[in-house]
Amino acid sequence: MNTKPFEQYESEVRSYCRHFPTVFVKAKGAEFTDENGEKYVDFFCGAGAVNYGHNNDYIKSKLIDYLSADGILHALDMYTVPKREFIETFENKILKPRGYDYKIQFCGPTGTNANEAALKLARKVTGRQNVFAMMGAFHGMTLGSLALTTDMSSRAGAGVPLHDVTHIPAPYMFPELDTIAYMERLITDDHSGIEKPAALFIETIQAEGGIMVMSEDWLRRCREFCDKYGIVLVCDDIQVGCCRSGEFFSFERAGIKPDIVTMSKSIGGYGMPMAIALIDPKLDIWKPGEHNGTFRGNQLSFVAAKAGLEYMLEHNVEAETKRKGEIVKGYIEKEILTLDSRLELRGRGLIWGIDFEAFGDDELSERVIDACFKNKLVIEGAGRKNSVVKLMPPLVIEDELLLKGLEILKKSIVECL
Ligand SMILES: Cc1ncc(COP(=O)(O)O)c(C=O)c1O
Repeated sequence: MNTKPFEQYESEVRSYCRHFPTVFVKAKGAEFTDENGEKYVDFFCGAGAVNYGHNNDYIKSKLIDYLSADGILHALDMYTVPKREFIETFENKILKPRGYDYKIQFCGPTGTNANEAALKLARKVTGRQNVFAMMGAFHGMTLGSLALTTDMSSRAGAGVPLHDVTHIPAPYMFPELDTIAYMERLITDDHSGIEKPAALFIETIQAEGGIMVMSEDWLRRCREFCDKYGIVLVCDDIQVGCCRSGEFFSFERAGIKPDIVTMSKSIGGYGMPMAIALIDPKLDIWKPGEHNGTFRGNQLSFVAAKAGLEYMLEHNVEAETKRKGEIVKGYIEKEILTLDSRLELRGRGLIWGIDFEAFGDDELSERVIDACFKNKLVIEGAGRKNSVVKLMPPLVIEDELLLKGLEILKKSIVECL
C-alpha cells in the first residue's frame, strides 16, 4: 500500500487519515473498500456527510442524468433549474409540512461558512457584538466559528485572539446550575461584565463535544430566553440535522423554531459540498452580495440535495433511523456496557457515544478506535480528551451490517480492556 505521497507531500495538518492508514478506492452504502480489496464497515459516515449512504443509487442516477445532459455546473448564485427545484422541494416537502417559513441563504459550501453567515447576520440585525455559545460546542474552524468552538486544540491554530463570545457552561457540566438563569443573570446584572449578546448558538446534541444530548425542556427554555431578551437563537444542525437525531431537524422534538438554522454535511445528499442558513424572514436584512462566495451555487449539489430529500421521504429515513437507533442502544446496553461498569452510553437517533473517561486512561478510546480499524470498522472519537467513541453509521445501513459493525466494536473493546 503506497502512502508515501501523502506522508511526504501532504501537509502535517491531515488528521483522519492518521487513524485510518489505508488507501480507499470505493464506497457503497455503509462499506468502504481499500486498495487491497479489504472491506470496512463505516460507522463514521463522512463525519455526517453521507447519511443516505455512499453512492446511493437513486441520487447517483440523478447526478449522471444531469451530467450527461450538460447541465450547468457552476453558476454562482444565478437562477438555475436545479436551484429552483431544490428550493421548491425543500419548501414544499420539508418546511411547509412542519409549519416553518424560513428563507434559504446559500452559503459557501462548508458548515463553518453557514455559521459565519449566521454570526454576521445576528450581529447586523441586533447591532450587538457579543455572542453566547456553549462550552463543549463545535461550530467550525474559520475565525468567527472558531471563536464559538471550545476545544483548545482547534482554538490553538487561530493565531489571533478569538473574541466577542461568552461561553456558557453546558447544562451537563454542572447539573445543579440552571444555565438559563445563569445567562439571564449575566445580561441583567449590571456588574456581570458581560455584554448582552446578539445571538445564542446551540447544538441540540453536541456531537464533537462527546454526544451530549440537550433536554427538550432546556431547548424550550433557550427559545423563551431568546424571545424575552430579543436575542437571535441559532441552531447549528450541521451534524445532527438531516434525520441523524431521528427527525429531519434535530430541534423538532422540542417543538421550537430557532431564528436561524445552519445546515451542511448531509444536506448535500451524496457527500456533495453544500451549506445553507435558514433565516426567519424578518431577520433577512442582508444587502445583495453582503455574504458572498464563488462556490455557493454548486449545481450538482442542488441536484443531489433534492434527490437526497426525495430518497429520504420515500424510504422513511426518519422512522428507520429511530428503529436502528434502538438496535444500537439495545446491543450496547446488553453486550458492551456489561463489560465494565465504567462505560457510559449517550445518544439519540443514530448518533451514539461510548464514553471511556471514567477509566482515567487518556489513550484508551484511541486504542479502541485503532483496534476497530484493524478489525475493519471505521469509527472516530469525540469529546473531552477524545474519550468518546462515536457511532455514526449512514442512516441507510442494512441491519446485518449494523450488527456486524457492533460486533467488531465489542470485539475491539474487549481486546483493549
Ligand atoms: C456541529 C458542527 N458545526 C459546524 C461544523 C463545521 O462544518 P465544516 O467542517 O463543513 O466547516 C461541524 C463539522 O464537524 C459540526 O459538526
